Amino acid sequence: MNLRFDDNSITVAIVGCGGFIGSHLLDAVLERTRWRVFGVDLDFYRLQHRLNHERCEFLCADLADSAVVERIAKFPLVVNLAAICTPSRYMGEACEVIRSNYDHPAALAEACAKSGSWLVHFSTSEIYGKTAADSGELLEDSTPAVFGPVTASRWSYATAKLLAERYIAGLPDLRWTVVRPFNFVGPYMDFMPGVDGEGIPRVLANFSTALVRGEPLKLVNGGRAKRCFTSVHDAVDFLFALFDAGTSDSGVAPDAASANAGCAGVFSQAFNVGNPENEVSIAELAAKMRAIFAKVRGVDVSMLPEPQSVSGEEYYGVGYDDSMRRMPSVAKAERLLGFKARIPLDVALEESLAWFVKHYSV
Ligand SMILES: NC(=O)c1ccc[n+]([C@@H]2O[C@H](COP(=O)([O-])OP(=O)(O)OC[C@H]3O[C@@H](n4cnc5c(N)ncnc54)[C@H](O)[C@@H]3O)[C@@H](O)[C@H]2O)c1
Repeated sequence: MNLRFDDNSITVAIVGCGGFIGSHLLDAVLERTRWRVFGVDLDFYRLQHRLNHERCEFLCADLADSAVVERIAKFPLVVNLAAICTPSRYMGEACEVIRSNYDHPAALAEACAKSGSWLVHFSTSEIYGKTAADSGELLEDSTPAVFGPVTASRWSYATAKLLAERYIAGLPDLRWTVVRPFNFVGPYMDFMPGVDGEGIPRVLANFSTALVRGEPLKLVNGGRAKRCFTSVHDAVDFLFALFDAGTSDSGVAPDAASANAGCAGVFSQAFNVGNPENEVSIAELAAKMRAIFAKVRGVDVSMLPEPQSVSGEEYYGVGYDDSMRRMPSVAKAERLLGFKARIPLDVALEESLAWFVKHYSV
């Protein structure tokens, strides 16, 4: 596969292009390469500035449509980001969540296997399941997964993503790579309820909304769960390291090749993408966001309402459950791609929050 960045005859298909990660990936492809982009999404409201770009074609369509799937699979590189991935929907809309995270990606994977495209599929760190507070590093190819019971429908998303990974890995003739994000943060993440979306967004947009509205941050079950928040810019750099490696014959990044002689490279691999140095509990995240918001607004943090603890079921509804810690092993990405996330948590949070405040005060 020859995917040189300066080759303007290459088109990458980005499915879910109008979403948080998709909008950053689109910008980076247009800025760092001469590739063309075929972007597919249900809507493109985040991409107003790109809609008339000469190297972009946008299709407002549903991945559930088999004709759309066939069109996407004609391109040599397909990045699939499309998914329902808002936790509050995992409880009330389990069947829709499973269709979105298993049925649609499975159909796309079949089409890519037939056409010979390289499928870069976005899974999730949730496939590691119900991890305990003292669980160690999560390794892509050896950590076992335990999930909550069927009555805890929060696991509808994680189990559908895991099955999609297994299906992709089992398809003969498919050239694939799976990406497992660990809590990416950055501008354009999610929505502000009642303004450009409904329901409960993921934690970054959730806390940002409360701060902008002068409401207390809600700490689900005391905010004891820990996560490794990762800048979306590091995530985009990971993808470029991946694309770069995928263009070499061995499938290994050129500067990592000698250390990995004989390895199958980036194909038929799942990668954790996260920043272990950015681990915080959700309560610590709330404290950091309050301090950053106070700085951005030029007020004293004591002027902001104190966070409040709420039970998971009270906040998200029946069927809520959680993982207490998600610490990625990032050794594989370092070994095969020479990639390591670099952006510190405070920098990523300040950028995200400053964007949110500016964007939603307009
Ligand atoms: N952002 C993270 O931290 C994170 C964490 C774990 C996993 N992921 C995975 O990464 C991927 C992208 O996440 P994101 O944060 O950009 O989410 P997002 O919700 O911002 O973007 C997903 C996009 O997919 C689109 N989409 C959904 N269903 C579709 C359909 N049927 N047809 C066409 N488009 C459809 C949505 O409209 C949306 O624009 C998802 O697969 C998600 O599960 C992200």
